[in-house]
Amino acid sequence: MKVTIVGAGNVGATCADVISYRGIASEVVLLDIKEGFAEGKAMDIMQCSTTTGFNTVVSGSTNDYSKTAKSDVVVITSGIPRKPGMTREELIGINAGIVKSVAVNILEHSPDAIIVVVSNPMDTMTYLTLKATGLPKNRVIGMGGALDSSRFKYFLSQALQKPSNDVQGMVIGGHGDTTMIPLTRLASYNGSPVANFLSQEEMDKVAASTMVGGATLTGLLGTSAWYAPGASVAFLVDSILNNQKRMIPCSVMLDGEYGQSDICIGVPCIIGRNGVEQIVDVKLNDAEKALFAKSAEAVRNMNADLKSVL
Ligand SMILES: NC(=O)c1ccc[n+]([C@@H]2O[C@H](COP(=O)([O-])OP(=O)(O)OC[C@H]3O[C@@H](n4cnc5c(N)ncnc54)[C@H](O)[C@@H]3O)[C@@H](O)[C@H]2O)c1
Repeated sequence: MKVTIVGAGNVGATCADVISYRGIASEVVLLDIKEGFAEGKAMDIMQCSTTTGFNTVVSGSTNDYSKTAKSDVVVITSGIPRKPGMTREELIGINAGIVKSVAVNILEHSPDAIIVVVSNPMDTMTYLTLKATGLPKNRVIGMGGALDSSRFKYFLSQALQKPSNDVQGMVIGGHGDTTMIPLTRLASYNGSPVANFLSQEEMDKVAASTMVGGATLTGLLGTSAWYAPGASVAFLVDSILNNQKRMIPCSVMLDGEYGQSDICIGVPCIIGRNGVEQIVDVKLNDAEKALFAKSAEAVRNMNADLKSVL
């Protein structure tokens, strides 16, 4: 199985690293426009193979898409990351041009690939990729919910003072500080609602920390985070390539589901070898439905900025 990752920066290279040491794919190609950069990252990762013991072959390419031919999955991380004080929304103009040209180049060499969009603003970039390529909606998947959910579970585990692997929870809606929806009501500690262990105030604090999770790290690091984003992409790629059919919140095109159409936004999906295999209805209550509608409105407003690119 072959995976191409476009953009060998922080998130792309971390994703390649996790995919290789976990043996998720047999081949990974990193591609970047910066001369020699992807080749260097690939060589660095390959020099871990004997110490961490993996067999995945990782190679790099400076903008030569012929090396990406016949990829099963292509991850798009190319673009500029958010700087302190910059909103994801402000990234749109620059990243839209990059994502569109990358998607077109990729499909020339891998016409059957499933595309995973990571570049921000991710929901809008996923929508752009679908519209610009005309691909069926099961083959374009935006990654954001997997990361936001892992941050949610981290903050829940901190509040519960329990191991994060004993905590379940999901974040849906837009992948933005004000648009994401941590589903606190449905979160559990080994199947028992977290409300049995945390006060409303504590749960609200967890939700608030999750929502600014990315911005908090951007403030600390001076650029956006990469370990959890890279690992979250690898987790999603694993479910696709190895047909795991995991339920992962992903940004996908809706056609009436959750009361929305003609929009890519985070909803729980079954992810397998065909990409998005099912959208799962988790039965939101009225308050959650209202939050989802508000989130969709914000994402739709951002999509309106694509007019000049589409
Ligand atoms: N969806 C998410 O959950 C999530 C999480 C973290 C970061 N991100 C986004 O992912 C993107 C990448 O973040 P990063 O921290 O890895 O940034 P980065 O700057 O470290 O890496 C981006 C790479 O893209 C390359 N690039 C730019 N234009 C290109 C093109 N046309 N073709 C090929 N490569 C090109 C750059 O040279 C750079 O190496 C950003 O848009 C960031 O906001 C999304």
